[in-house]
Amino acid sequence: MSQIDELTHLQQQALQELAAVSDAAGLEAWRLIYLSRKGLVLQAVKRVSSLPPAERAAYGKAANVLKQTVQAAFAAQAEVLHEASLKAELTAEGVDVTLPGRRPQVGRMHPINRTLRHIYTIFGRMGFQIYRARDVETDEYNFQLLNFPKGHPAREMQDTFHTTVEDVLLRTHTSPGQIRAMREYYPQPIRVILPGKCYRYEQVTARSEMMFYQVEGLAVGRHITFADLKGTLHAFADQLFGEGRKLRFRCSHFPFTEPSAEVDIDCIICGGKGCRVCKYSGWLEILGCGMVHPNVLRNGGYDPEIYSGYAFGMGPERIAMLRHGIDDIRYFYANDVRFLSQFA
Ligand code: DAH
Repeated sequence: MSQIDELTHLQQQALQELAAVSDAAGLEAWRLIYLSRKGLVLQAVKRVSSLPPAERAAYGKAANVLKQTVQAAFAAQAEVLHEASLKAELTAEGVDVTLPGRRPQVGRMHPINRTLRHIYTIFGRMGFQIYRARDVETDEYNFQLLNFPKGHPAREMQDTFHTTVEDVLLRTHTSPGQIRAMREYYPQPIRVILPGKCYRYEQVTARSEMMFYQVEGLAVGRHITFADLKGTLHAFADQLFGEGRKLRFRCSHFPFTEPSAEVDIDCIICGGKGCRVCKYSGWLEILGCGMVHPNVLRNGGYDPEIYSGYAFGMGPERIAMLRHGIDDIRYFYANDVRFLSQFA
């Protein structure tokens, strides 16, 4: 066979095998044999230099034609295979555009955040500002300045998370914010709510978590009386639980208020007739309150001979439980979406 016939033969063989290739792997295997740098086609082209000079021109020309033909056929076949694989993919993953869509998952606001915002809105309308105090407190602010000296029995009600630093603790209530607000605002009149997380080293049960929220309220001025406290809490209860709420103030004791009271509303479930939720008493406790103790005013920088104030503290978890009929506080922070997604 002449050199040129060999080229023709190589071309036939290459094209025939190419036509039989049916996928990308086969195409690559074919390319390595024929069109790679050491493949048969380039070798054939290079062979020109080993021929006698008289034959080189004709051979070179034919070899170039071979190379171009084979390269063009390769490109065409690659295109055909690419189209075919696209088509196969599209039919395999076919989209039926007539099917109904899937509803995307949308998050919801946490029930405690909803309750907090509701509380903020109500007090905001009455002229209260939000004052944020710290979660990590000192023994001095959390207890001593609030009239709980070291060893005071009222401390036992608030089992405390201590830190490795002496007298630094996680606040057990939002009341230390009262002192911080007074020290910052003195001598201006104050009307703030202090929301935030509190921590207690307690057994976790259906009724108590070791982390929970409180919303504290504080008003300080020259002529603030218990009547102002009652009026404010009445307006609050009407807006949060519905118009015409009855409130009951029961004498109580907190070291940082004098006098102190606990406040009940008429049961929102049974309207006062008596049910499981109110334990057949007709009343639900919602918060603690009182007139700011003279020592506490003084610790905040306000002279109790000139100024007076009231304070209150409530638990938004308890309020949310009452409003939604939830009987276990642990649901709030267990992050079970089945529970959380019910509060639209
Ligand atoms: N700090 C109290 C507690 O955690 C709640 C409280 C009661 C706050 C009466 C007040 C108040 O401001 O006046 O149990």
